[in-house]
Amino acid sequence: MAYKIAIIVGSLREGSINRKVARSICSLRNDNLDCSMIEIGDLPLYNQDLDSNPPPQWTRFREQVGAADGVLFCSPEYNRGIPGVLKNAIDVGSRPYGQSVFDKKPAAIVTASPGSIGGFGANHQIRQAAVFLNMPVMQAPEAYLGHVTDDSFDDSGCLKDGPLKELIIGLAHAFHDWVHMIHESRRLLAEDSAHAARAKAHA
Ligand SMILES: Cc1cc2nc3c(=O)[nH]c(=O)nc-3n(C[C@H](O)[C@H](O)[C@H](O)COP(=O)(O)O)c2cc1C
Repeated sequence: MAYKIAIIVGSLREGSINRKVARSICSLRNDNLDCSMIEIGDLPLYNQDLDSNPPPQWTRFREQVGAADGVLFCSPEYNRGIPGVLKNAIDVGSRPYGQSVFDKKPAAIVTASPGSIGGFGANHQIRQAAVFLNMPVMQAPEAYLGHVTDDSFDDSGCLKDGPLKELIIGLAHAFHDWVHMIHESRRLLAEDSAHAARAKAHA
């Protein structure tokens, strides 16, 4: 069974390298990861006053993420941190309080940059938010993709053959296994609880 993955790209740039990395992940694992890119560029800035009457863009975003089995963040680093547009999307999805669409969803984080440290700062700021969002984040492989440029991709916008593509293939396999493990263990736990409740009722 293919797991539905919501990909949230932290760049609005047309030629974004992070979007191309995300596209590559989709095309490399479309046998068991059913990926959709969730657009965030049209989301009005989060304002708690609007929670009682949310803008339709917020509702659309929340429904799309809510329907996914897992979330993949693919983002650049801006000034050693999370781009504002991505932080806004995280805030929008996390509210109203108690109704976060991110809650319990398995996640993975990829950051790509032409620079040498591969968006490490942004990657870990997303991880920090994921703690409060209660998202089990895949720990390894870590993906701070450095020295990524337009040259890393072919004309269709997917990664060219080479070590970076190999890393991304490995990451996509690991993410599938991570999502599967989380969902399968929850299913087994629910079965165990139901079994225990039945046994108690018949005792
Ligand atoms: C406002 C701004 C801040 C940036 N800050 C960083 C940074 O802290 N670290 C880094 O590696 N690259 C930084 N960059 C360069 C981006 O990594 C580069 O523009 C990258 O291509 C953006 O990702 P994208 O191609 O997915 O849009 C910054 C770019 C912009 C526009």
